[in-house]
Amino acid sequence: MDLDGFVVGTYELAGEFPLKDAARVLAAEQTTGTWTEVRTAPKSFEERLAGRVVDVDSKSGTARVAFPLEIFEPENIPGLLSILAGNFFGLGSLTRARWVDVEFPRAFAKRFKGPRFGIEGVRKLVGTATDRRPHCGTIVKPKVGLDPRGTARVAKEAALGGLDFIKDDETLTDQSFCPFEDRLRHVMDALAEAKSETGQTTLYAVNVTADQRTMLERAERAIEMGANCIMMDVLTAGFHGLQALRDDASVKVPIHVHRAMHGAMTRSKDFGISMGVICKLTRLLGGDQLHTGSASGKMERPADLPVLLGALRDPWHGLNSIFPVSSGGMHPASAEREHAAFGDDFVLQAGGGVHGHPDGTLAGARALRQAVDAVAKGVPLAKHAKKHAELQKALDKWGHETYSYESFKS
Ligand code: 3PG
Ligand code: MG
Repeated sequence: MDLDGFVVGTYELAGEFPLKDAARVLAAEQTTGTWTEVRTAPKSFEERLAGRVVDVDSKSGTARVAFPLEIFEPENIPGLLSILAGNFFGLGSLTRARWVDVEFPRAFAKRFKGPRFGIEGVRKLVGTATDRRPHCGTIVKPKVGLDPRGTARVAKEAALGGLDFIKDDETLTDQSFCPFEDRLRHVMDALAEAKSETGQTTLYAVNVTADQRTMLERAERAIEMGANCIMMDVLTAGFHGLQALRDDASVKVPIHVHRAMHGAMTRSKDFGISMGVICKLTRLLGGDQLHTGSASGKMERPADLPVLLGALRDPWHGLNSIFPVSSGGMHPASAEREHAAFGDDFVLQAGGGVHGHPDGTLAGARALRQAVDAVAKGVPLAKHAKKHAELQKALDKWGHETYSYESFKS
């Protein structure tokens, strides 16, 4: 079947019907059918707009369903999701329904802008276009609890320690204890001071996540104030929210994409949407960096990490790549496992694993940068630590981290 005129979804399905019939039910429910026959549409028109089962693989329990391009309103992302990820999830006759992949014809994908910067663009901004080491970053911690000056003090130490990237945590937006504009002003001033000492650019992703109108206002204000990066939560604010930020011509900075709430969609083996689909949609809509999950750390480790990395970094319809971000319980000792899994093109991002260093944020940032420099050169961390005291202290503290409840409490 020539799939050029179709968007194709891949689904893991099971239920009261054999796989092929379950796939037919999905195709019908999402396009021209319902639970009983209706004869309101001309037959030929109905056939033209109907979803088709492309193939089924009973070994993996997956089916591919093709949706004619004509039923998509160009660039309407909520509409696209209502077709590819709509009613069928709730059908009582299905005991398993996961959306695990999506393919777009090139002409369809080209209607979207994709990442403005991607890996190469972000590297150029930071000055690592030729030095291909992984980037290292931090989330200012605690999540909430610092005022603008406190946030800026921590950010400056992180920058002085050699980090490329600093971000707000996902729950910090524009609360009264740490107002958005004050925070941005103080942090950008602090990063300018750090740059005058180090000569290095550090990106600060200020969190603009909010309802779409407020988010756009915030992003535009951030740019006016000199922000060099913004961050948004793609699932809580919506894919259309990311699309709106990318489509706003004044937002000429990288968009760091967090995935808070993804676990509700990605973790169940029976129902949900895979991280691979979230990766592809984020790339289509223009995120420059995306949290993917990690090879170690406190979060569930994705078994399909190579698939996710391919979705972000492999050539795809001429769209820029996305810088994958490994985050969640990372620390300097994580660098070896993460580098082995991700290669050089990723951001190793640690919150607690920087600010929880026995000697504080500056030492923690140095230790993370030392770890990244070591793995990029193929030097074992234990060897590098012999000449780098900050790294040694980090390895002593976290080299055998188990992410127990005790570690959360402390
Ligand atoms: C994130 O948003 O990825 C987390 O804030 C990571 O924090 P941690 O490094 O302290 O686990
Ligand atoms: Mg966080």
